[in-house]
Amino acid sequence: MSDILGDWKRTHFCGELRKEDIGKEVCLMGWVHRRRDHGGLIFIDLRDRTGIGQLALDPDRDPEAHTKAEAVRNEFVIAAIGKVSPRPEGTVNPKMATGEVEIEVSELRILNIAKTPPFQLDEYTEVAENLRLKHRYLDLRREAIQKNLIMRHQVAQTVRRYLSDNGFLEIETPMLTKSTPEGARDYLVPSRVNLGNFYALPQSPQIFKQLLMVSGFDRYFQITRCFRDEDLRADRQPEFTQIDCELSFVDHNDVMSVMEGMVAAIFKSALNVDLQLPMPRMSFAEVMERYGVDNPDLRFDMELVNLTELVKGCGFKVFASAADNGGQVKAINAKGCATFSRKELDDLTDFVAIYGAKGMAWVKIQDDGNWQSPIAKFFSEDELAKIGEALDAKPGDLLLFGADKTGTVNESLGRLRGHLGQKLGLANPKEYKFVWVTEFPLLEWDGEERRHVAVHHPFTAPMDEDVPLLDSEPGNTRAKAYDLVLNGSEIGGGSIRIHDQKVQSRMFELLGIGDEEARQKFGFLLDALEYGAPPHGGIAFGLDRIMMILTEAGSIRDVIAFPKTQKATCLMSEAPGVVDEKQLRELGVRLAARPKA
Ligand code: AMO
Ligand code: AMP
Repeated sequence: MSDILGDWKRTHFCGELRKEDIGKEVCLMGWVHRRRDHGGLIFIDLRDRTGIGQLALDPDRDPEAHTKAEAVRNEFVIAAIGKVSPRPEGTVNPKMATGEVEIEVSELRILNIAKTPPFQLDEYTEVAENLRLKHRYLDLRREAIQKNLIMRHQVAQTVRRYLSDNGFLEIETPMLTKSTPEGARDYLVPSRVNLGNFYALPQSPQIFKQLLMVSGFDRYFQITRCFRDEDLRADRQPEFTQIDCELSFVDHNDVMSVMEGMVAAIFKSALNVDLQLPMPRMSFAEVMERYGVDNPDLRFDMELVNLTELVKGCGFKVFASAADNGGQVKAINAKGCATFSRKELDDLTDFVAIYGAKGMAWVKIQDDGNWQSPIAKFFSEDELAKIGEALDAKPGDLLLFGADKTGTVNESLGRLRGHLGQKLGLANPKEYKFVWVTEFPLLEWDGEERRHVAVHHPFTAPMDEDVPLLDSEPGNTRAKAYDLVLNGSEIGGGSIRIHDQKVQSRMFELLGIGDEEARQKFGFLLDALEYGAPPHGGIAFGLDRIMMILTEAGSIRDVIAFPKTQKATCLMSEAPGVVDEKQLRELGVRLAARPKA
């Protein structure tokens, strides 16, 4: 390498040169983005992570450099020495940061050659994602994705500075550990030295950060990888990054206020956007009633309207029986959507069916105010008027109804609301609507396992006024838990923890986790709680999800350097892969299933 560079030293990055640099002798190094031959003159767009600079090679001015330039191809790595000059009249490119200047090259070196890339590396070419992921090192040369990763770096720096300034210490916790309680499947690692035993990769540093509070570190943070073997969705990866925090001697208000300060610092540094603090809060009960889901997108209205009382005893059996049997009837008003075709309505009906809805009654309000609907005939004039009023129905509107068990109605209409928001382009990607969702239920009933499970995790504290409910009606106990939702995405979640060993034991009892099991799984935490645990709580943010929103990336994979596919594979390294017999023997592992080819 030193040989080929000789005494050449790079003086500038490719994207740096401006009018003010005219006359300077410079040395640039980078990749050939494009070469254009203009009858004798050769222009090379030279690229590095800062952008593109134009090299100009004139056969009369420097025949030797010009001859070398004739040999370069896209993605060759070259170095050039020359003088910064103004671009000739009419060739200035106002779209480029360096568009007013070019480098009149006097010397050129080819530092390395390159094969023709399997796809073009400009931003205008749509390339199949699988091909991009297979050659990720080339894909990562593209400007859009480099920008995402550079912004990710800036966000991480902002987070470190903000948290450090607010008294948080960055402390690492182990990757080879025991099962943690976030409720997904663990990734396991067999131990060679302790045959038959397995480490679990952490689903989060939850237990360790609580132990750090017991140890007196007061405020901890870590930007750390978490591993969860769960079904992947658009905003999930099997390994993802949390901004993980824990604080001592605080209540939920303290946590939320320090943390929204961090989020504001992130938005200021990454986008120069000033967020309004404090951020709004809404109880889980209210969010579910108005939006049907616990991560609503508040950039548009279309709230769920509860018609249960109104339709009690009405002539439409589906509605009346849902209302009479403890279920709900709710509806949304898709403003101006009365023009939807039969096919579009069928598609929406199929959509809600995914979430268990058995049907989707609809009403189109016609221009004359009349109702076009398969169900209008079941209602009296008076009932129609009341439903219309509740939904603020105007000519041109489309009303969509759900009637079922409360959970099914909320989920199907809530998702439908989100789906329509996207379909109709109601959400502005440059608008940022935050909401803290608070007062989550502590427990939920798992019908399959016939026991309560923790909604958040088993260390989350109940709300003080609800503690008596733990004995009388555990299902109605609310938790000191909070999620931060941004534009329909849960970007963070946390809680105040149980710091009293007795309450923790009661919690395990309610969860059907016996003493022995609790000891075996979390014994060290239970012990620690008996040695003076301070009141404490914390939160973790999904850094990848935050980056998706900041960069307006269509996929979580576009903000991660080396992501996994929906099937949890890496197309480049081909992980996971088979291992040889010897390695397995050393680990005391025998395969029950043949590896898939
Ligand atoms: P939780 O499980 O809510 O809480 O995770 C915190 C945040 O991490 C992000 N996240 C993910 N991002 C990408 N891919 C995934 N598979 C994934 N899973 C979660 C989300 C989520 O809000 N220990 C607790 C935090 C605490 O109580 O302090 C925890 O892990 O943005
Ligand atoms: P039916 O009486 O089954 O023909 O249904 C009449 C209309 O009510 C159709 O548009 C159905 O899609 C709708 N419908 C049926 N079941 C439900 C339900 N549980 N919730 C909302 N609409 C429903």
